[in-house]
Amino acid sequence: MKFYLKRVLVTICLLIFAWILWQSLASQTKRPLIATPTRSHLKSGPNGPEVRHDGAEASKRDLELYQKIYCLINEDHEIPCVKTSNDNSVYIPFNFIEKYFEISGKIVHRKGGKEVFEWNHSYSKVYFPKQSYDSGLAFLWFDNYNVEVRDRVRCVSAKAGVPISSQWQARGHFYPIQIAQFGLSHFSKFLTVGQPRVVSLDSGDFFNRKAVTYLIPSDASLKRVLSEDNQQQKVLLINGRDLVIKIKRKSNNDLTLAFDVKVLTNFSLTAVLKSDAHSSAEYRVTYSSIDKDIEIISNHVIYGFGGSSNWRSLTRDLAIDLQKGVNIGSKKSAIKTRNMHIIRIEMNGNAFVDNIRLMSSAHETYAKTAADWFVDNQEPNGGFSIKVDRKLSNGALWLRNGWYSAMAQGQAISLLTRMSRHTADHRYLECAKKALQLFYVDSKDNGIRTKFIDQYVWFEEYPTIPSTYVLNGFIYSLFGLYDLSLACNDTICAKAAQLYRQGVQSLHKLLPLFDSGFGSLYDLRHLGLGSAPNRARWDYHSTHINQLLFLNTIENNLLFQTTAKRWISYMKGYRAPHN
Ligand SMILES: *[C@@H]1O[C@H](CO)[C@@H](O)[C@H](O)[C@H]1NC(C)=O
Ligand SMILES: *[C@@H]1O[C@H](CO)[C@@H](O)[C@H](O)[C@H]1NC(C)=O
Ligand SMILES: *[C@@H]1O[C@H](CO)[C@@H](O)[C@H](O)[C@H]1NC(C)=O
Repeated sequence: MKFYLKRVLVTICLLIFAWILWQSLASQTKRPLIATPTRSHLKSGPNGPEVRHDGAEASKRDLELYQKIYCLINEDHEIPCVKTSNDNSVYIPFNFIEKYFEISGKIVHRKGGKEVFEWNHSYSKVYFPKQSYDSGLAFLWFDNYNVEVRDRVRCVSAKAGVPISSQWQARGHFYPIQIAQFGLSHFSKFLTVGQPRVVSLDSGDFFNRKAVTYLIPSDASLKRVLSEDNQQQKVLLINGRDLVIKIKRKSNNDLTLAFDVKVLTNFSLTAVLKSDAHSSAEYRVTYSSIDKDIEIISNHVIYGFGGSSNWRSLTRDLAIDLQKGVNIGSKKSAIKTRNMHIIRIEMNGNAFVDNIRLMSSAHETYAKTAADWFVDNQEPNGGFSIKVDRKLSNGALWLRNGWYSAMAQGQAISLLTRMSRHTADHRYLECAKKALQLFYVDSKDNGIRTKFIDQYVWFEEYPTIPSTYVLNGFIYSLFGLYDLSLACNDTICAKAAQLYRQGVQSLHKLLPLFDSGFGSLYDLRHLGLGSAPNRARWDYHSTHINQLLFLNTIENNLLFQTTAKRWISYMKGYRAPHN
């Protein structure tokens, strides 16, 4: 987006510059010079100026037609504009309009090379539900999300298998909302993509001769030994340095690598990647028994999975891991991973290794890893605390390290209930039920619940005092409550149903307060602070719309429908009528 904006700005500045140059030259020589490209943009509809291309005569006419005029805008800005002499139309440079009206535009090339200038009010997109919301199926529109590529994700931890957030704290923390979204997006993608293509390279008993060859230095060893845990199966015992598994065949661009490892002293496994396009460049991603989350050593990315001596499974998206490393390292650049393939695996150290395989994706594994993270990290009160201080409104509102979020609780429930149905693992449902407890605890007691003018219950994404009433986080928490209400038939799920119902009633009552007449408000913090309202930027505005559209498939609520419709129109610049 930024890149395009810059290009538009530069183009427009050049056009204006060319025009001024032309004007000044023309006024000196009193003779029409070259026709400038500005003309094509000034060309207007049936009543506008007529532009012809028949040499000096036409250029002269153009010159007389387009005159410089200053625009004085609300007494605040004075900018050079263009006036047409035949009809006194005034043309204002778009780079001014763009900032003034918060819109964006760019010159685009249509098929056949024709240039058009295109402008949109919103840079965001509405996802219309393809079917009714279903607690067992894809979560909302999240199959479109790729959480780990976001800037706010520092990297995916090799130790925990879930993203580490750099939001609000550069060194990183586990942010439950991000982890839930990671899980929900992969769960949703799994339902569309299905089981991945898997090529087993070596599983101790089975060695894929078609796919790999080994290069083992004379002072290193690779043995196939019976597994301590399962005496029926063999595993690899690695000892030494620079053991290489050469990949003989191109791996279909399958860049998900998985292996199991039990470290004896230390161990590292490096995937060496090569791109078709830049045939000489090799990229290295290492998984090592170090404790550090991520380390960059001159273009070489190292992920630490820790020194634990238990068996563990790693499933890694090499493209993401490589890109994250490059982003953190000094060379901030996008690596084209589309035509990359893995050419070799190098191993160092002393460890048991098993089940080395390449896969086309691992959405189900990632969803499960995320759900397991919630099971393993749930606190006695059922919460998943956020371990950073958070300041809002320049410090007027704050949350102290260890706060909870209704959005984290809700999205965790949405993930856990789905995984519970998918796997029939009772731990997930128990975890989801326990996560409900905080919905009864008020913000002032380090919970997530507040009320609007002592009447309408509200679940807070940021449980500040005074309350903020963040809209999108609240609605996400409602989807969580809805999912839990259908996940069992006991009293806890009945309680979730009751909370959901109360929440929908509050939303129905308060939704109009979030309408600014030309956009939506992100929250209602201004009521408590007496500050300016906090307008939602377009991607949050479209999130509000998406949420209302999906919620309406459950509720069939006329207010949700009409509000969504009006809010969609705001994305094209429409405004609510005034008196
Ligand atoms: C305007 O919106 C359309 C549809 O989403 C998109 O294809 C186009 O790139 C947008 N143009 C600009 C300048 O943002
Ligand atoms: C791994 O252990 C060996 C033997 O203890 C040691 O020589 C080597 O430096 C270690 N490697 C790493 C990367 O720690
Ligand atoms: C709850 O009970 C209803 C009605 O008997 C049944 O249709 C539904 O499948 C049950 N739900 C669960 C999660 O057991």
